Amino acid sequence: MDRHILGAKQFDRSGLESILSAARAMEQVARSGGSQLLAGKIMASLFFEPSTRTRFSFESAMTRLGGQVISTENASQFSSAIKGETLEDTIRVISSYADVIVMRHYEIGAAARAAHVSTVPILNAGDGAGEHPTQALLDLYTIEKELGSIDGISIAMVGDLTYGRTVHSLAYVLANFRDVTIWFTAPENTPIPQTVKEYLDEKGVRYYEESDLRQVAERVDVLYQTRVQKERFPSQEEYEKAAGRYIVDKELMDRMKRTSIVMHPLPRAGEITPECDADPRAAYFRQAENGVYVRMALLAQALGENQAKE
Ligand code: NCD
Repeated sequence: MDRHILGAKQFDRSGLESILSAARAMEQVARSGGSQLLAGKIMASLFFEPSTRTRFSFESAMTRLGGQVISTENASQFSSAIKGETLEDTIRVISSYADVIVMRHYEIGAAARAAHVSTVPILNAGDGAGEHPTQALLDLYTIEKELGSIDGISIAMVGDLTYGRTVHSLAYVLANFRDVTIWFTAPENTPIPQTVKEYLDEKGVRYYEESDLRQVAERVDVLYQTRVQKERFPSQEEYEKAAGRYIVDKELMDRMKRTSIVMHPLPRAGEITPECDADPRAAYFRQAENGVYVRMALLAQALGENQAKE
């Protein structure tokens, strides 16, 4: 198993199973007051793009395991990047200050560049419109916890599928499970990338592109809604073509199966109406909570501490 987490294709089924099972154990650890498993270890969080959940849940995870955190939440402004330092130099230095680096960057492939020069594990917390592999792992954990199984599910990925990195990583990890069906429902100008479809073809995963969300909603076990990634569009005009195209509201939820769930990596920006929150099938806040347990497991694994100890 690679000590870096750079992209979701690096995981195979047994690697995924062991992360999910470690995350279940970590949920128990967190619920019983945490542990000192990572005492004496330092995690650096280096975020060149905004984040609430990813950074806080990683920091919370590290703290719950007794480790320490050093952090810059706005590395574009507050790190030496603004003085013209290269990412490689920044990483070389931080890897001598910390035992693991959690990094978010605006460029595709930035985490891989960092891993090239780092002496400690790099955990990719989002690289531009590329990938967000740790989100995909917490998404899997959520699906398994909510539905009891990942094999056999039918899932709709809805919204900005071009720039939305979470769906790329989620599609890749789902390719390890049996009998999964994916429906891609995206505005015309933000389709699922060809590279993702090619990977699914190679892995023999069944998928469809379908623009009618109402039809898709009736069929799926998971409706995975996403935000239109305003900051990545070439123009305001292009953004406006995609924004508001697909909204999950009470009427849409009424069409969904009683046993289905609605997920969203969050933040939402109007694409799920607040009236949906009270529906027990709205799983997105539980999903965000699961991020802590999964990231506890990932940090323990990256730091070579797989056993729960007091
Ligand atoms: C996502 C991201 O940053 O890619 N958020 C997250 O990490 N939970 C989704 C988004 O920003 O829309």
